[in-house]
Amino acid sequence: MAKEPVRVLVTGAAGQIGYALVPMIARGVMLGADQPVILHMLDIPPAAEALNGVKMELVDAAFPLLKGVVATTDVVEACTGVNIAIMVGGFPRKEGMERKDVMSKNVSIYKSQASALEKHAAANCKVLVVANPANTNALILKEFAPSIPQKNITCLTRLDHNRALGQVSERLNVQVSDVKNVIIWGNHSSTQYPDVSHATVKTPSGEKPVPALIADDAWLKGEFITTVQQRGAAIIKARKLSSALSAASSACDHIRDWVLGTPEGTWVSMGVYSDGSYNVPAGLIYSFPVTCCNGEWTIVQGLSIDDFSRKKLDLTAEELTEEKALAYSCLS
Ligand code: NAD
Ligand code: LMR
Repeated sequence: MAKEPVRVLVTGAAGQIGYALVPMIARGVMLGADQPVILHMLDIPPAAEALNGVKMELVDAAFPLLKGVVATTDVVEACTGVNIAIMVGGFPRKEGMERKDVMSKNVSIYKSQASALEKHAAANCKVLVVANPANTNALILKEFAPSIPQKNITCLTRLDHNRALGQVSERLNVQVSDVKNVIIWGNHSSTQYPDVSHATVKTPSGEKPVPALIADDAWLKGEFITTVQQRGAAIIKARKLSSALSAASSACDHIRDWVLGTPEGTWVSMGVYSDGSYNVPAGLIYSFPVTCCNGEWTIVQGLSIDDFSRKKLDLTAEELTEEKALAYSCLS
């Protein structure tokens, strides 16, 4: 029997990530090849005509799984009945800007959209915040939507996770699909800690630890980390626009694994509400290694954290604590 359609909201749908993301969702990349979808697309009035153009293209592409499109500048209409909300709407970072610079523009959007989601989305709606500062926007959304379960509000660090997989695969000249269990800890910012201490590569003679295969501590603790931390800025420098296809693809990965589950023995990175695991302060949206099963994520427990890693985990937590205070000062 055909499945009931799932309603997926994409905010900022007329923007460049939106343009890459909505066809992926309509093709089944996010929720599976047998899952019909109804797309809800929100943007602001100056982008209404462009948004309508995206809707026209979705019709023209004749996606078999796409059972309807709502394209609107009305946040209530956009949020009504949605099962999944991908929050991309906001103002992106331009060359030379740090994420803090985009804070004041974006957190107020997340405060107001929190109420619309809380009142009008379907019960148990899963929320993924992509717009920067992603962790802090997600935290503001959580705080101003108290009736949405805190486990349902997450932010995107899967792009950073995928970037780390990509760097390891290039360095070792192995397939990216053979690398697993990297970790992004903390903020989706230049203080994030990409960690390969527990990562492995599938080889003909079994799974091998990445640190043993690379055996270049200076690279692993230096260039590898800074490359992943600075990749967003490097893309902006090269494209004069921030990453879009990789962000859209990673957003699909995030939701697919959350809804359909992570493969046995594999974890992924998600920005989730901290419960104090690994001595990360509770009350932040912080990226952890998680496994997913039956639509629920669980933080992977018991990984060893050495002194080098401890400092990096703490540094990015400190930045998130500062961002939280700054966000509240922007809202007051
Ligand atoms: P963009 O400027 O191309 O698109 C953003 C869209 O949001 C625009 O169409 C704009 O009109 C719309 N918008 C603005 N305010 C809105 C509101 N209140 N409600 C609904 N829509 C609104 O930007 P983009 O390149 O698509 O990037 C979107 C966001 O994603 C940025 O904040 C960017 O920094 C962030 N980003 C995050 C990651 C990540 O890994 N977390 C990666 C790449 C980009
Ligand atoms: C990215 O990581 O590509 C985005 O968050 C864009 C940025 O501002 O770095």
